Amino acid sequence: MSSDATDRSPLAEGTEHPFASVARLLDWGPMDEGARIVTPAPLEVDEATVETSLRPRRLAEYIGQTQVKQNLSILLAAATQRHEAADHVLLYGPPGLGKTTLANIVARELGVNIHTTSGPAIERAGDLAAILTNLDERDVLFIDEIHRLNHAVEEILYPAMEDFAIDVMIGRGPSARSLRLGLKSFTVVGATTRAGRISSPLRDRFGAVYRLDYYSPDELATIIERSAGILDVEIEPQAIRGLARRGRGTPRVVNRLLRRVRDHAEVTGDGRITATQAEAAMTAMDIDDEGLDTTDRRLLAAIVQKFASGPVGGAALAAVIGEEVDTIEDVYEPFLLQLGFLDRTPQGRVATERARDHLRGMGYEVPPPRRSERSDAGLWDGITTEGRTESETPA
Ligand SMILES: Nc1ncnc2c1ncn2[C@@H]1O[C@H](COP(=O)(O)OP(=O)(O)OP(=O)(O)O)[C@@H](O)[C@H]1O
Ligand SMILES: [Mg+2]
Repeated sequence: MSSDATDRSPLAEGTEHPFASVARLLDWGPMDEGARIVTPAPLEVDEATVETSLRPRRLAEYIGQTQVKQNLSILLAAATQRHEAADHVLLYGPPGLGKTTLANIVARELGVNIHTTSGPAIERAGDLAAILTNLDERDVLFIDEIHRLNHAVEEILYPAMEDFAIDVMIGRGPSARSLRLGLKSFTVVGATTRAGRISSPLRDRFGAVYRLDYYSPDELATIIERSAGILDVEIEPQAIRGLARRGRGTPRVVNRLLRRVRDHAEVTGDGRITATQAEAAMTAMDIDDEGLDTTDRRLLAAIVQKFASGPVGGAALAAVIGEEVDTIEDVYEPFLLQLGFLDRTPQGRVATERARDHLRGMGYEVPPPRRSERSDAGLWDGITTEGRTESETPA
């Protein structure tokens, strides 16, 4: 696979990347196979520590997601006024957009404790029963990756969420009977990157369902400014804009870029992040103007070069670039779709003209697409919606 044409970087073979020495110095490791800098998924363990320090603690500090914040603040205020547990809240959206952060904010705003667990961590119904009976009045139970709860555990969760009660079986065989055990009232905050994978009975038990969206460059810039303040880094406004533009709409990514660029500025300058330094660090990390790294470009290039821009199915694409279908769908695709570089059609993924332009600009060979956008349009020529409505509507 290493001789794969889609792997080729625009640099001529044998030429060392101008910033390769810096990368070595900073121990960034191999740029292609190592941890992806722009992956929206969390990286090393110590990143979790930094993330905690950068996490907004109150709703007012939480940047962006205006609609979600508005609705949530009403829900929280109402619960506080009534001295009741808040409605159950389901948060969904791509990784790194602030679901865990928001779950913690909910508990803080309510002035209650948060108990954190996750779908895969709760193996048996008994595990969940133990967690539930330990909750205090109005506490928040945060269940991350809630789409990965197993069925037996979900069955316990339904009555718990609905009636604040669990049914426990006493005894075995014919003498077994079920005993209903009351719980204190509490709030479940569920988080998932895969809303579509949540069973509908579970989804129905959430009073509020909020979808987190990618952040605008302005919002990301505000996040970078805030993080730079906390990390005590000096950064030029133009450098902030450069990072925001490449941040994939994701707070986790911009915070990571900020830390990497800071390393770069400390090693090559006096620690102050200038626009030039930010650019240089991005180039060293192989992150292009749109915030794509080599893996993203490899994926796009595979579609464009190997599948004539598509449509291509997930499994075929996964096989060609050597990634899991789930990883492609969860990690790479959402942002490429958002950028307008990919389209999903019933036949599979299609690389758009924008994607082809981008690759061309990066020095990739771009063969013509199998199906031009024009021939797609031709398919529908003459079948206007109006025409159909008329003929289908009885006179
Ligand atoms: N609205 C925001 N304002 C400022 N910083 C934010 C915001 N949202 C997220 N962050 C920052 O981004 C980081 C990642 O957020 P968080 O861990 O909450 O994402 P997540 O949606 O839970 O991701 P995952 O799906 O991987 O669990 C946090 O450390 C936080 O500092
Ligand atoms: Mg999280």
